[in-house]
Order: sequence, then structure tokens, then C-alpha cells
Amino acid sequence: MKNLLSAGQLSGAQAVEILDIAEGMADVNDREIKKLPTLRGKTVVNLFFEDSTRTRISFELAEKRLSADVINFTAKGSSVSKGESLKDTAQTLEAMGADAVVIRHSASGAANVLANSGWINGSIINAGDGTHEHPTQALLDAYTMRKRIHGSASMGKTLEGVKVAIVGDILHSRVARSNLLLLNTLGADVHFVAPPTLLPSDSSNFDAKLHYSLDEMLLKEQPDVVMMLRIQTERMNASFFPTEREYARYWGFNAQRLGQLKKSAILMHPGPMNRGLEIDAVSADSAQSTVLEQVANGVSVRMAVLYTLLSGERNANAS
Ligand code: CP
Repeated sequence: MKNLLSAGQLSGAQAVEILDIAEGMADVNDREIKKLPTLRGKTVVNLFFEDSTRTRISFELAEKRLSADVINFTAKGSSVSKGESLKDTAQTLEAMGADAVVIRHSASGAANVLANSGWINGSIINAGDGTHEHPTQALLDAYTMRKRIHGSASMGKTLEGVKVAIVGDILHSRVARSNLLLLNTLGADVHFVAPPTLLPSDSSNFDAKLHYSLDEMLLKEQPDVVMMLRIQTERMNASFFPTEREYARYWGFNAQRLGQLKKSAILMHPGPMNRGLEIDAVSADSAQSTVLEQVANGVSVRMAVLYTLLSGERNANAS
């Protein structure tokens, strides 16, 4: 595998292998010296045209823990603000010898354009493109579910039969799209829960069961996992619900809904959270919340992705 552009490109075996490698990386991250020489001599560029906290920092940490040389590029403060195109930016990075480019962009398909353009010879990793995909988020979410459900016996396991409710702004969510693809591959039972205005118009084509009432869904289905999504006001060009207060009342996760969850169920959120809108503080900070676990697991999973894409290339070149 050269690039990671979509969660849907991974077979079940490939996805499980990445999750298993991430378990090994988590052991490294628990050591006093959290460093492997795997990517020594490799240059990885983090090319962020859109804001990020978790993804950008965890990729940087993952690259450094694998001993890569790391270049951080953000559109703000670069020649992009003077009008430089994606092509010229990419070719500049190629001239500097980038072995891999981690790209986040507001345009859906930007990572695919870069991978198929011929402007860059190195690996391309999609770190979130518009409303399209966020495959490493889906992998770290799957890792978190697997770890919580199977514990120390999770190596080699899928998510067969695990019931996952993805709740909220599905229409604008690359996290929902990548999770749906990966969860289907891993055998999970996926449920979308949202007001009709926040579901894509073609959602009948998705392999997910649809629900229009969060309370009914929680009561009837008793999910193993509830994944709350951020309301993405920055991608909204219309009014999708009457008021924030009404959204929080009908669609937000709160202490009362937390009380309805079975005790073994987990509550996820990819971050950043709008506290008080899609999730309240009691739920976000509860023992059933995996919000910070997801962030920590993101480093191990991104190390596993970099290892999978780049160390294989070294082995192939050596042979
Ligand atoms: N989950 C996620 O992608 O967060 P950031 O936007 O902070 O990277």
C-alpha cells in the first residue's frame, strides 16, 4: 500500500493488521524512551491547509517517535497566502525530497488529486479532506472500540456484531463517512441517528440503519458505542435546525441519556467538542467517555499507518 486516501480502500485483513501494529506502537508509547529508528532518513511533510489540533500534533508526534525528519507546513504564513497553487506547493515539497505528505484540506478530494497528479512521488496520507473522508480518525476510533470491547485479547479481532450509533451532523462529517466504511469492513452494525436535515440526501445508499429520534434509538437498540459528531457550523450555508437550544435538547448527549446507556457502552467524540451543544460536560467527562483515549490512541494508530506505508517501501527498495 502506497497511499492512505480512504477508509474504504482497506480490506478487513489490512485494517486489522494496522490495528495490531498500533497495539505494538502503544507498547512503545508506554516506555520511558518512546522512540523507534524505523523511519530514520525519511522526510515527512505535514501539509495543513485547514486548522487542526489533534490530527496535526499526533501525526507530528508519531513521525518523531519513528525518527523521521518532519516538516510542518500550514497555509497561514506560507506562500499559499500569496496565491501559490496546490500544484506549485506540492512540486516544491517534491523538490525538497518528501517521502510522504500528510495533507488536510478543506476541498473534498484534495488528497486524491495529490496522489493521482504525479506532482509528488512519495506516499500521500489523507488527514481530512472537506466533507469527504478522515481515514486515520476512523482507524483510531476502531482501535479505541476494539480495545475497550476486547481489552488485552484484542489482537487479530474485528468489530463483528458491535452496534455503533453515529449521532448528529452526518451530512457534513468526513468522520462519519470514514467510520461507516471501516466499520462495515470490520463487521460492525452501524446506525445513523440525526434529524433528516443533517442526513445526506442519498443516505438510503449507505449501509447503515437510519433513526430520527435519539431517545427511541437508545432505548430500542441499546448500542455498544455512541459516537457524537460535532455540529460543523463552518460548513453550513443554511439553517439546519431551529436553534442551538432545541438541537441540544433533542440531539445532544446529556446526563439523562448517559443514564440510559448500558454500563459497558462507550461514548465517543472525535473532537473538537461543542460542549453544551452536541454533548454536555457531564457526559464528555464521564467514565464512559473515550474522548481523551481517542486522542492518545491516535498517536499509536498514526505510527502504525506511517510504518505500514513507509517501512514497506524501504524493504521493497532494499530487495
Ligand atoms: N478529530 C480531528 O480531526 O480533530 P482536529 O481537527 O483537531 O485535527
